[in-house]
Amino acid sequence: MDAAAWDAKYERAELIWGAPPNDMVVEFCTSLPRGRALDLACGEGRNALWLATRGWSVDAVDFSSVALTKAVRIAATATASIRERVRWVHADVTTLTPERNYDLVVIAYLHLSRTERENVLATAVRALKHEGILVIVGHHSANLKNGVGGPQDPEILYSPDDLVADIGDGMRILVAEDRVRHVGDSAAIDALVVGRVTDE
Ligand SMILES: C[S@@+](CC[C@H](N)C(=O)[O-])C[C@H]1O[C@@H](n2cnc3c(N)ncnc32)[C@H](O)[C@@H]1O
Repeated sequence: MDAAAWDAKYERAELIWGAPPNDMVVEFCTSLPRGRALDLACGEGRNALWLATRGWSVDAVDFSSVALTKAVRIAATATASIRERVRWVHADVTTLTPERNYDLVVIAYLHLSRTERENVLATAVRALKHEGILVIVGHHSANLKNGVGGPQDPEILYSPDDLVADIGDGMRILVAEDRVRHVGDSAAIDALVVGRVTDE
């Protein structure tokens, strides 16, 4: 989907992904010492705002201006110190060239073509400082048959192994797992990868 299609989707409903942060982002980021985070494809900003609430300085990037407008509106209800810690960036993550300046990169439910995904993961790894952490969560390929929701195009879904292969030897993989997420009475299958940059 291009930016215009995402804008149209965000215009149709208020808070598509909900206000609370993603469970796996919470699970893997809660115990990290706060620093600088990059949220690639931040959407309405639920994860970026949660990180800012916990003291992180966050650059939150999305190519949907409608999503970012919503994110800013939601952030307006937070205290000034939280608001000031998030920089909302209107940009395409496939062409982003961030500095190597981050302690954490979060990518949640970003689904691109294989080549674009590889490029974005390489960008994410390059953006991380030594010991920096990458958390990627998305709709698993197996979700198509065995889970609910998510994109229905198998070309843009992935498994943890696909993500690990894309990352290559750029980092030490700490977690590569299938995760079940409960959606009402149904279940969705997510792919989760967490890695740490160990080179200098
Ligand atoms: C399923 S939403 C997830 C939003 C957020 N990460 C979350 O978990 O709540 C996917 C987001 O990816 C964004 N996106 C897709 N392709 C993008 C690209 N090439 N550059 C920037 N944002 C992109 C969309 O605008 C959308 O906000």
